[in-house]
Amino acid sequence: MKKLLVTGGAGFIGANFVYYILNKYQDRQVVCIDKLTYAGNLETLKGVMDNPNFKFVKADITDRETVFKLFEEEKFDAVINFAAESHVDRSIVEPEVFLKTNILGTQVLLDATNKYNVPRYHQVSTDEVYGDLPLDRPDLFFTEDTPIHTSSPYSASKASADLLVLAYYRTYKTPVTISRCSNNYGPYHFPEKLIPLMIVNALHDKALPVYGEGINVRDWLYVEDHCKAIDMIVNDGTVGEIYNIGGHNERQNIEVVKTIIKALGKDESLIKYVTDRPGHDRRYAIDPTKIRTELGWYPETDFDTGIQKTIDWYLENREWWQNVMDGSYQEYYEKMYGNK
Ligand SMILES: NC(=O)c1ccc[n+]([C@@H]2O[C@H](COP(=O)([O-])OP(=O)(O)OC[C@H]3O[C@@H](n4cnc5c(N)ncnc54)[C@H](O)[C@@H]3O)[C@@H](O)[C@H]2O)c1
Repeated sequence: MKKLLVTGGAGFIGANFVYYILNKYQDRQVVCIDKLTYAGNLETLKGVMDNPNFKFVKADITDRETVFKLFEEEKFDAVINFAAESHVDRSIVEPEVFLKTNILGTQVLLDATNKYNVPRYHQVSTDEVYGDLPLDRPDLFFTEDTPIHTSSPYSASKASADLLVLAYYRTYKTPVTISRCSNNYGPYHFPEKLIPLMIVNALHDKALPVYGEGINVRDWLYVEDHCKAIDMIVNDGTVGEIYNIGGHNERQNIEVVKTIIKALGKDESLIKYVTDRPGHDRRYAIDPTKIRTELGWYPETDFDTGIQKTIDWYLENREWWQNVMDGSYQEYYEKMYGNK
């Protein structure tokens, strides 16, 4: 029986990963720690709360004492660090919490990994550490050797964490791997991010705010394909290595918005162009050759299929997004854990 620590498992990708692992393996245990910030919701983990192979602990990854105690008690076989402040817009307004959680939180987890001899530490990073690519050079892609060149406090904090992870490998031989993935979409995505925001606003016939001219390009990956890649890296990836993850699904933001409008039978007059984000990255595009050739990973869901699945999920799970948006998930938490 292998025991995994998943940090940030009440957030979008972490929760999808928890479901992916518990569905795929009968002989794995998952302990999830999450601070339950605005982005983390126990509602999201409802489907695994009663699973005997799952345990939830409300904790902050920067809380060294609590984290060390947990490592001592649980004796993990692997740590997968998803926990982060993840929204670029918020990092522009309030950078400090990004540096604390994303960098110092990573350091605490690495120290605990060393002290308790955990055989594997995986850092979930992002393609945003590479900065951006010009719009008129579709031949260029990010490889693992592309220099780090960050644009926002968010990406700078993620890049700093990556450097720390690599330094621990070099200095202490901590058995680390890093993955850098492109933009994810799918179930349980908090409605402040582009795709869920557009779905939810369109359903309410509210304006669809699009930055600038909407020509920025993102390389979209269905979240389950990301989970599959992380699982493969944790099982078979080479220690000390970085793996880029992406599925060659590049789309301009405006194309994505129009696809959602069409799928929901709404009108393009809902689109409202708003002042661009400062320092807005133009294009991200991943070259996933390394993970494909070394580990045999490939994406299973193309964009057209994935976006329809995602829209269907939001239509079928209105209660989830209504709850996470109006704060009633906090009441839910109190009800579940308030007296325990
Ligand atoms: N969303 C994407 O498209 C994308 C792409 C590539 C990489 N990533 C990376 O994947 C990871 C997960 O992203 P996401 O989109 O699921 O983010 P998210 O914001 O949905 O979830 C983050 C989770 O971390 C928790 N958290 C925040 N601070 C914490 C702390 N101090 N201690 C414990 N838990 C804390 C939050 O409560 C939340 O549940 C992040 O590291 C992010 O940088 C995301």
